Amino acid sequence: WNRRRLSVWRYREILPLRGEPVTLQEGGTPLYHLKKIGKDLGLPELYAKHEGMNPTGSFKDRGMTVGVSMALELGMKSVACASTGNTSASLAAYAAKAGVPCVVLLPAGKVALGKVTQALMHGARVISIRGNFDRALEMVHELCVSHGLYLLNSVNPYRLEGQKTIGFEVIDQVGGVPDRMVLPVGNAGNISAVYKGLKELEALGFIDRLPMMTGIQAAGSQPVVRAIEQNLNVLIPESNPETVATAIRIGAPVNAEKALVAIRATGGTAAAVTDEEILAMQKDLARKEGIGVEPASAASVAGVRRLVEQGLIDRDERIVCVVTGHLLKDPETVVRQCEPPVEIDADISSLLSVLR
Ligand code: F0G
Repeated sequence: WNRRRLSVWRYREILPLRGEPVTLQEGGTPLYHLKKIGKDLGLPELYAKHEGMNPTGSFKDRGMTVGVSMALELGMKSVACASTGNTSASLAAYAAKAGVPCVVLLPAGKVALGKVTQALMHGARVISIRGNFDRALEMVHELCVSHGLYLLNSVNPYRLEGQKTIGFEVIDQVGGVPDRMVLPVGNAGNISAVYKGLKELEALGFIDRLPMMTGIQAAGSQPVVRAIEQNLNVLIPESNPETVATAIRIGAPVNAEKALVAIRATGGTAAAVTDEEILAMQKDLARKEGIGVEPASAASVAGVRRLVEQGLIDRDERIVCVVTGHLLKDPETVVRQCEPPVEIDADISSLLSVLR
């Protein structure tokens, strides 16, 4: 495959837009073979699709190029979202490109620095609420209904249309259907979107089976995992979700019912990983594979490790983990985990003595 040929708009025949897109050249992200981590886990066919390599550093750009394009096509004059960070960074950039005003609501104190930085620099009206993401989403929903802003959270179907293309690219890059796709789950939009896209490819006759859709949540924020384990069709929301992976710190995922269908219909599963497991895998990806991701993204690969240990994954499976956001999104978590740089006098003997 040729990376340059892949992009969201390569698949425009099965996307909703008719006119010209608002694009920052999203999609076409690399698929890496995780040779060392795969060897450690006894999984020779373990891959990571690095969605952090999108224009604003997360998979949200795939959704926003379609969502913001549709906003213009529908004649909307302003856009809004609630966000744990990445959605706001992405929407701010695409709204800037489209030339429409943008309002974003963030849970105060719980958004990684890089994401806030992006929303601010791209010119969004950034508002921190003293409440969590679930509350911010309720509030922005109410604002959009009462004041006619266009809502671009994953309740917006056009967003999910764009995110379908992750699955399309994986099929193209792997050269077939992987046995399993593993995604971190927050609001559960992305796993639902990938499933929808692959179902469409199947209906069109391009593929003849689906990967086992596997959702990973953080132990402190795992309503979808609980629903799968307890065989429920509706969700019991968590009122105080907590995890170092702030991107997926969500207690009442709005797309949960769709995600449950995706997981069950494909014979997939859901699992939770602790913050320690997430941070250990973030480090392994960085140090063994050279792949820099934010904590929520490492959750997918940490989930594979956990499922292997539980004997729930076959060693010969071909597995694609979606790693959803870039390392640079969350520098503060890195600083808390790693030794700070050693500061020395500017002479060679000091240098040699610290390296000894
Ligand atoms: N990974 C990252 C890096 C995310 O930012 C998100 C969601 C997810 C995974 C989960 O995806 O919600 O479709 O299940 N972030 C949203 C936001 C909630 O506001 O940026 P999901």
